[in-house]
Amino acid sequence: MTTFSTSSELGRHVGQTVTLRGWLYNSRSSGKLHFLEVRDGHGIAPCVVSLRDVGEEAFRAAGGLAQETSLAVTGAVSAHPKRPGVFELQVKELAVIGAPRAPYPISPKDHGVEFLMDHRHLWLRSRRQHAITRVRHTIVKAIRDFFDGRDFTLVDAPIFTPNACEGTSTLFETDYHGQPAYLTQSGQLYMEAAAAAFGKAYCFGPTFRAEKSKTRRHLSEFWMVEPEVAFTDLEGVMALAEDFLCFIVERVLETRRPELAVLERDVAKLEAVKKPFTRMSYTDAVAEVARLRAERTAAGGAAPAAPTAPATGEGAPEAADEAPAVERELVWGDDFGAEDETLLSQRYDTPVMVHRYPAAVKAFYMKKDATDPRLALGVDVLAPEGYGEVIGGGQREDDLDVLEAAIAAHALPPEAFRWYCDLRRYGSFPHGGFGLGVERTVAWICKLPHVRETIPFARMLHRLSP
Ligand code: 4AD
Ligand code: MG
Repeated sequence: MTTFSTSSELGRHVGQTVTLRGWLYNSRSSGKLHFLEVRDGHGIAPCVVSLRDVGEEAFRAAGGLAQETSLAVTGAVSAHPKRPGVFELQVKELAVIGAPRAPYPISPKDHGVEFLMDHRHLWLRSRRQHAITRVRHTIVKAIRDFFDGRDFTLVDAPIFTPNACEGTSTLFETDYHGQPAYLTQSGQLYMEAAAAAFGKAYCFGPTFRAEKSKTRRHLSEFWMVEPEVAFTDLEGVMALAEDFLCFIVERVLETRRPELAVLERDVAKLEAVKKPFTRMSYTDAVAEVARLRAERTAAGGAAPAAPTAPATGEGAPEAADEAPAVERELVWGDDFGAEDETLLSQRYDTPVMVHRYPAAVKAFYMKKDATDPRLALGVDVLAPEGYGEVIGGGQREDDLDVLEAAIAAHALPPEAFRWYCDLRRYGSFPHGGFGLGVERTVAWICKLPHVRETIPFARMLHRLSP
């Protein structure tokens, strides 16, 4: 009877004969031995084919296998003589399941990033992409575990929406049985309804932004988790965001060290992500950016470099293609540009929480600061190492009259927001929450130069396929 094993479970079968099914990742030969690396999705298993064990014909066949041939290898499991924790197969039998019909297009040499993105369906098989996707999975699971463990109720938000949440300029319009509908930019408004029903709620799903941005931080379709909490304020939102990010980073460090090693991630930088995070008002942040810029100019420096990844072969991406930063004076009232965020977030080891932005640059739903109504009780959490905003959120306007005035001031259609105003009409309550973008979080934790590698099939300004 055949015992099947995955590469990750070989350690349980030492001394036994098992069959492993996968694809040929790499091979090299030395005299009477072929060393095959077989990739099975769980990992990569070294398989040793010796002329003595398999005979001449099988030995010759094993030496001529093309990259990505799918196969079944049967052999005895033993501990790798040099690499602790690694198990290898001494091959007795090798059966080809599917021989490639053409040479595999992705080779270990460097390819251009557009070529790799065009071959994303195949690129996913490579070691780096495999590691990134597994870290992403762990982050997604950590997100759910964090909220589920704190008695939040999962409340799914709709994807077809009748109105904007995050500004009308980034809406994807669709035809909904003859009436316009928009792909959701954020589930937040629905989560506010959910917070009144469940106290603590979250949604987690895809979100869409029709931004014409071509930066290393923007996707047209990305995943966002959005918790919303009743009877909390800006402070409460910041404390939740801080605990949340610590939880995610800890979980990745607990379970994904091998993947981080593949990515050559400096884990000391992640280990430094501990409470308390630096909290800084927008007003102080503007002064800090000005100081950092002056410091840089004095040192004769250029605009801050985008994070780069080590070149690891097998299609290491090119440097980020962010538009060169245009140097402009940042004055109070401006929203931060990508470069300002990069500067600020390179300065600290932990994420930085910038709070109390000018209300004029933030969304209509933000509550104004009672001590200075020019300010909105919003927070952006900037990830360290130059990654910039990963979380945006804050306290919501809970005064019906003020909210209605804000809807009018933003020229939003009042009828579309009537249900939203109902949440203030029937038992209004202080509340707040935030949204965390999964892809920006993965980019930061994996230290990737661009979000396009953080999602299996990226949707960007100029990319809808594969
Ligand atoms: O700051 P944003 O626009 O906030 C909201 O949508 C709020 N309604 C969330 C809430 O309070 N419930 O987006 C939140 C996060 C950003 O911090 C960023 O991580 C991510 O979503 N994000 C994007 N990620 C990739 N591509 C884009 N185009 C993104 N836009 C936002
Ligand atoms: Mg934001």
